[in-house]
Amino acid sequence: MTPRETVAALVPRGKAAKEAGEAFAPANLALVKYWGKRDETLNLPVTSSLSISLGGLGTTTRIEAAAEDRVILDGRTLAPETPFTRRLIAYLDLFREPGAGFRVSTRNSVPTAAGVASSASGFAALVLALDRLHGWELEPRSLSILARLGSGSACRSLWPGFVRWEAGSAPDGMDSHGIPLGWQWPALRIGLVEVETGPKPYASRAAMRDTREQSALYAAWPDKCRADLAAIEPAIEARDLETVGRIAESNALSMHATMLGAWPPILYWQSGTIEALRAAWRLREEGVPVYVTMDAGPNVKLLFEAAHEADVAAAFPGLRVLLPWDIPS
Ligand code: PMV
Repeated sequence: MTPRETVAALVPRGKAAKEAGEAFAPANLALVKYWGKRDETLNLPVTSSLSISLGGLGTTTRIEAAAEDRVILDGRTLAPETPFTRRLIAYLDLFREPGAGFRVSTRNSVPTAAGVASSASGFAALVLALDRLHGWELEPRSLSILARLGSGSACRSLWPGFVRWEAGSAPDGMDSHGIPLGWQWPALRIGLVEVETGPKPYASRAAMRDTREQSALYAAWPDKCRADLAAIEPAIEARDLETVGRIAESNALSMHATMLGAWPPILYWQSGTIEALRAAWRLREEGVPVYVTMDAGPNVKLLFEAAHEADVAAAFPGLRVLLPWDIPS
């Protein structure tokens, strides 16, 4: 099945289009990571993964029909040849007949391409905006499948709170989508340590492929993820930060370890990344329960509870603290 066939199978025809569609989607932070595809065209993962939404951090996108394509990012019209525009246009092409144009205006409250999952919230917001523009009224599960075609992790950005991306096993990917888990944990906080906000040196797509093809350490990764996923879900339900944090931290560091085993090695970390990691470990030695996770970038994210926010903020000047369920309506 091709991405276009997936779209044709899910999207109804002949609905009356509105003037514009607009939507917000939150960024998401994986606690058990997606790293490695079993199908590169449909973005089907090797393993299931699990994430938490990042509250008000995310993307707002407005889309309307236009004579020709125009992409506006954070108020500035982008040149057609930028990688951002090309990727977005290639995605929109899945949904339209030749000759139809779109004006897309998108705003990120996430640093674009800095490993804070802006592509996840970006494609989730775009697919929601398309749904509203065309009046499709698709089920969230179908929207999740469509968002996955843009960026794998986008399929987890359709809901607040915890979401599991079920890897599925069907070759057409129709069973590979996000599932909201519904567990609430109001005291949970995410801290964002911005080590660097510039674009990252390797796109996650290439890094995933190179790791899977070249790193001997990758062989251990799928089983690690399955075990972590099985153990983290009951711990989340029990709001057991120590277990959730240990699993999330170990999962993220193991993912980065698989990348170091590739040749040439893939290292997203900067010296600030290591400093942040050590600062979190120091806090833990002092009795403050704080845990670390990282995606395909140098930035560090912290997991802790509201009761320890002051201790964590004191150790990380400039820390941005997010409430996962605090999502704009
Ligand atoms: O969805 P992508 O292709 O940007 O890949 C995301 C990969 C990680 O952020 C590193 C892990 C994850 O599960 O989000």
